[in-house]
Amino acid sequence: MATGRRKSVKRCVCHKKTFCEILDIASEMNFTTYAQLLENKICGMGCGMCHPYLNKMMVTGETEFYPGDVYIDSDKATG
Ligand code: FES
Repeated sequence: MATGRRKSVKRCVCHKKTFCEILDIASEMNFTTYAQLLENKICGMGCGMCHPYLNKMMVTGETEFYPGDVYIDSDKATG
């Protein structure tokens, strides 16, 4: 039976790095987009399930997410 509590996501599982660690690396390397993390093979090169969280992390600075969390650019959102 569901309890209503959702388990948070705090890491790129494939690369065994927490989003906190990844954000620190991004800061040290002056990255501003999650694409730069992928291009430099810092994380996100496995299953890709973390991509929405990485994108949101790079925009908001958050490092803990819940399934379904995505960053929506209100300037580009439709409908
Ligand atoms: S969880 Fe990040 S690539 Fe799989």
